[in-house]
Amino acid sequence: MSQTSVLVVDDIANVREDIKRFLYFEEDIAVVGEAGGGHEAIQLAEDLKPDVVLMDVNMPDMDGITASEAIAGKIPDTAVVIISIQGEPEYLRKAMAAGARDYLVKPFSSSELADTIRRVSKLYKMRATRAAAVPPVALTEPGPAAPENKIIVVFSSKGGVGKTVVSCNLAVWMAQESRKKVALVDLDLQSGDVALMLNLSSKGSIAELVQEEDHMEYSLVNSYMVPHMSGLKVLPAPVRPEQAEVVTTSHVEAILTLLKEHYDYIIVDTSPLFNDLNLGVMEMADDIILTFTRGLPAMKHTRTALDVLDTLDLSKKVKLLLNQSTLDYGVKISDLEKSLSASPAGILPYDEKIVLSSINKGRPFIMTHVNSKIGQAIRNFAGQLALAAANTGPEKKKKKSIIGKFFCF
Ligand SMILES: Nc1ncnc2c1ncn2[C@@H]1O[C@H](COP(=O)(O)OP(=O)(O)OP(=O)(O)O)[C@@H](O)[C@H]1O
Ligand SMILES: [Mg+2]
Repeated sequence: MSQTSVLVVDDIANVREDIKRFLYFEEDIAVVGEAGGGHEAIQLAEDLKPDVVLMDVNMPDMDGITASEAIAGKIPDTAVVIISIQGEPEYLRKAMAAGARDYLVKPFSSSELADTIRRVSKLYKMRATRAAAVPPVALTEPGPAAPENKIIVVFSSKGGVGKTVVSCNLAVWMAQESRKKVALVDLDLQSGDVALMLNLSSKGSIAELVQEEDHMEYSLVNSYMVPHMSGLKVLPAPVRPEQAEVVTTSHVEAILTLLKEHYDYIIVDTSPLFNDLNLGVMEMADDIILTFTRGLPAMKHTRTALDVLDTLDLSKKVKLLLNQSTLDYGVKISDLEKSLSASPAGILPYDEKIVLSSINKGRPFIMTHVNSKIGQAIRNFAGQLALAAANTGPEKKKKKSIIGKFFCF
């Protein structure tokens, strides 16, 4: 069995001993070295090239953040996990911005420690394997033909970040403004509230649709699409959570394939989970709008999500959308950009009054407050999506691969 090698960095010898004791019985994890300070940590990391470095924050000679930044720069295949005591959120933010992949707050259990090491190192190993397997792109290689119709998935692995607010307002704007055929599919199967936010009542949902016929046909799918006054058509989520079980990944793939033949844009709202269904939809998608907020947990989730999507070769579809859905920003945008190695393609401002009243009334703010700051932000972002659609031709693709661009913005 290949073991995950770990370097333990902490200026207190007892803490290092505790960590080694915690990991002693984990057969797949081996502590290969220990350091009592930042300088020693960098030197040992360069010599040992461990899979994971467990890094304390406060150390006398060089702090853990500076050491993490150096290690992330010098040994990119080594993942740094910060270990901090409670009450150091500011340090944690800086550490994530400096390139740390994850963090553990003391006191933590041995299983939390081992699980974090396994998760981080697995992601890194998958990333390295995939990077080695991808052949270099020939400069003259033509890209595939630009697809006419687009599937746009709104996703986040964290709940409550504004996915449904974004999906509804984007879809309504695209439907009424572009005069194109736009569909909105609510794939938050257990607790979807697109129908609520758009004040739609329906006879059926995706759950009844998939139970009606073995063989899915467009006319059947279309009969379940509920019209909204903007011109948008909506496929609602099941009304009751237990109905979610009847909808499988292959049902969803069949529905989206049929819709893509008949609609210009299909916007998909999702649940905050990395499950088969969401991954299947993201595979099919042309764009993945990764929605996130500005707190530390959101930063961590988004970074992990980007890692997972990168591992699955889906990161080139990602457009980051920062939703300032709370006033407690917590993290500076510059720190976010550093931590995510990317800038958001769009930023939604905080506006509790407009957003809440639009949800309560079932009228998207893009209809009632089109010129508000948040309305403008939605319009700008929709414009970018349409622009990206127009630019997905072979020439653009070629340019992206030459400069090795990671994100399509
Ligand atoms: N820009 C914003 N300003 C103020 N409040 C916002 C903003 N965006 C979203 N909200 C608030 O955040 C809440 C969560 O939004 P929403 O339901 O769209 O999140 P979600 O990601 O779809 O959640 P879930 O994962 O539970 O489906 C809403 O009640 C809304 O009031
Ligand atoms: Mg939602």
